[in-house]
Amino acid sequence: MAFVCVFVFVPFCAGADEPDGEKIFQSRCGSCHSLENGRNKVGPHLSEIIGRRAASINGATYSGALKDSGIVWDAGTLDTFLSAPQDMVPGSRMRLKISSPTQRTAIISYLSNQ
Ligand code: HEC
Repeated sequence: MAFVCVFVFVPFCAGADEPDGEKIFQSRCGSCHSLENGRNKVGPHLSEIIGRRAASINGATYSGALKDSGIVWDAGTLDTFLSAPQDMVPGSRMRLKISSPTQRTAIISYLSNQ
């Protein structure tokens, strides 16, 4: 239901209990990822991640596994990756899992506008 809420009924249910993608990003992802093009931390920057090929940022350090994955990031591939990065890309250097689907949806919708 929260999924439907976020994608279809945003104006009607942007209530206080909806997870806030920006806050989750800052607390869970921001230590390793910036949203500034060209500024890589431990992980690559995530500016304009939607439509990007995996492991395509110059100057970022990637695992061979992610380089060989052939993934193109969209809402679906990001959702699968964030739920279990090392299940989708065995050998990936990213280990953080976001097990809550509503949190993943909030993060992805936030990232879609960066
Ligand atoms: C402890 C550090 C760390 C945290 C926290 C982290 N990541 Fe990562 N992330 C990485 C690393 C390192 C890579 C590169 C993985 C590889 O090369 O296998 C990566 C790769 C990625 C990629 C692929 C980027 C590309 O250019 O292909 C995405 C998307 C991503 N992370 C999203 C997230 C999101 C969203 C969060 C928060 C929910 C997050 N990461 C939290 C370290 C982290």
